[in-house]
Amino acid sequence: MNKKEDLIDQDLKQESVESEANLRPQKLIHFIGQKNVKDNLSVYIQAALKRNEPIDHILLYGPPGLGKTTLANIIAREMGVNIKMTSGPVIERAGDLAAILTNLKEKNILFIDEIHRLNRSVEEILYPALEDFALDILIGKGPSARSIRIDLPKFTLIGATTRTGLITSPLRSRFGVISRVGYYKDEELQKIIIRSAAILKIKIEENASKEIAMRSRGTPRIANRLLKRIRDYAQIEGEGVISKDIAIFALKNMGIDNQGLCEIDKRLLLTILDKFKGGPVGLGTLAASINEDKETICDVHEPYLLQKGFLSRTSQGRKTTEMAYNYFNQNQYQQRNGKNSSLF
Ligand SMILES: Nc1ncnc2c1ncn2[C@@H]1O[C@H](COP(=O)(O)OP(=O)(O)OP(=O)(O)O)[C@@H](O)[C@H]1O
Ligand SMILES: [Mg+2]
Repeated sequence: MNKKEDLIDQDLKQESVESEANLRPQKLIHFIGQKNVKDNLSVYIQAALKRNEPIDHILLYGPPGLGKTTLANIIAREMGVNIKMTSGPVIERAGDLAAILTNLKEKNILFIDEIHRLNRSVEEILYPALEDFALDILIGKGPSARSIRIDLPKFTLIGATTRTGLITSPLRSRFGVISRVGYYKDEELQKIIIRSAAILKIKIEENASKEIAMRSRGTPRIANRLLKRIRDYAQIEGEGVISKDIAIFALKNMGIDNQGLCEIDKRLLLTILDKFKGGPVGLGTLAASINEDKETICDVHEPYLLQKGFLSRTSQGRKTTEMAYNYFNQNQYQQRNGKNSSLF
């Protein structure tokens, strides 16, 4: 191998080491946080293993980047079975799903990401598959059409969604386990950051990991992303070690404030405060005002702002809270508007 190839080879290795997959914990005991979900899953896994049966169908829901896909992989590993991964929008026709299901082996796991985006005709194939491990197929057309039933291997479906509200009730009722994956505490995120830094061989000081954790919106994916970007700053601006100062400097340059709010969060809140006098404002109007799509607001921004207490949701729409008002500094806000506005 010549020198150039060697370098490319090293680059590729480096890149694969850094891919999201490598930061994913492989075992339940290495999965940080979500104690409730983990404890329950651990019982269901052990019980299923003892009975030598596939684990019951599982629905995981919660905002993006909190570990749903990671958990599905862990379950497969702990059960010692293969996992086939697909997603709702990819399965376009009923036949596509039928092909996937008939190719599964006994106890295999089928993971369907974004399961709320399955179309109706596909979803209907799933009902008997989940309940009776069977496929009902219609052969022929018109009066001579008849339905035949094909047996499927006993498999487990793990569905993941950011929108549990969009799952139809017949589908939801066929899951034996429904688990919510919530935002992480700062201490948990700090542990995740320290773990990821060790895997990526990044040197980081304790108080720097704490600072990054505080600004990661309760989300491991964001924590890992910030860690990688701050490492770049540490290499160029510092000595290669992430100190608290470097972390703060980098985060400031990236437009992330000490509450973890990004530009879009701030624009969203300011729009409600400014244009709609604190609300309530409907989702459609808000989305159009800040030029973002409704789904992104619902899945990514709103849950975090609701949890942080910056936003509240009423039957008439979204409202900013007093906390949001204070956050943008009452005085500055009043000066900007030249009045003593009554927002609440
Ligand atoms: N508990 C955890 N401990 C350590 N790392 C975690 C944990 N949860 C998630 N991660 C990290 O966060 C990243 C994102 O997790 P994952 O892809 O499982 O999220 P997700 O919920 O499936 O997101 P999406 O809804 O966007 O599909 C993973 O690469 C993993 O490294
Ligand atoms: Mg995922």
